Amino acid sequence: MPSTLRTARAPGRVNLIGDHTDYTGGLVLPMAINLETRLTFEAAPHDERPTVISADGDPNTARYVDAVFAELRDSGMNPTPLRGTLTTTLPVGAGLSSSAALESALALSFGAPHATENDRVQLARILQHAEQRAVGVPCGIMDQLICLVGRADHAMLIDCDTLDAAPVPLPSGVEVVVRFVAERTLAGSAYSDRVAQCAAAEQLIGPLRHADLEAAMTISDDVIRRRARHVISENIRVREFATALTSHDMPLAGELMYDSHRSLATQFDVSTTQMDSLVDELRNTPGVIGARMTGGGFGGCIVALVEHGVDIPGWRVSASSGASLVE
Ligand code: GLA
Repeated sequence: MPSTLRTARAPGRVNLIGDHTDYTGGLVLPMAINLETRLTFEAAPHDERPTVISADGDPNTARYVDAVFAELRDSGMNPTPLRGTLTTTLPVGAGLSSSAALESALALSFGAPHATENDRVQLARILQHAEQRAVGVPCGIMDQLICLVGRADHAMLIDCDTLDAAPVPLPSGVEVVVRFVAERTLAGSAYSDRVAQCAAAEQLIGPLRHADLEAAMTISDDVIRRRARHVISENIRVREFATALTSHDMPLAGELMYDSHRSLATQFDVSTTQMDSLVDELRNTPGVIGARMTGGGFGGCIVALVEHGVDIPGWRVSASSGASLVE
């Protein structure tokens, strides 16, 4: 029987606001972007191990293939082995979730259900575990979820406690520019430390999602107090930012992005001097509405909201739909 070639596509993401909130069930506002990963594949015999060749020779691909296959199998989803080839327009290691895109493309190709919103939310949970299995970092669910539930022309306001995702239209006349700063460094252990520090804060004042800044101020340990302050204030900013976008209050949206950056830099200690100076530079650039570091930090990218047509260097990205099988 001649085998049939099919292709799955899965987008990367950029987070407009709400970083280091997802793993305490907080709020995030990412968008899936038009930089994406494609996996062209054919089904393989049931007793064969899935094999994927990556066009750019990324040595980490096999780890993700094995992790996604194993997590789907452990969740009772009966994944189908495949032979596939991978291409991507996403820069790897830049903090635009090339790994969540890879995981999602793999999952759809292995035959994971993804027809309904609920299927996609369940799948995001499985892929979050696959990421943890592949790299041993206790990541939250934002990257996998936005990669699966993204919508064209919209950012998504995601409640990482209930996993509800509400589309927020991006105002016309506004563009999103992503500027690569540096390959991420130390992301693994430093990220795990932040997760542990937030858990320590929750031991003292309960779930950060429901705590207020006053409660955070009662924490005597300086580091734990600052971590809590960031998370609590960031959740507030995400809501205000979503409202600002909806009501086209761009000056407010911009200020909230700068506030978010400052909080990530001074309370959460995940920025770098290079990222801080780029955000300062953008703040003084005409036509830039707001800018901040995006994602886990320690390198990666800056995201900026700019007025239409403003010419600053970087990738001009548009909001795209979640992962799908295309042919
Ligand atoms: C990484 C993780 C996400 C999230 C961000 C920070 O991208 O994978 O789960 O925690 O960092 O917002």
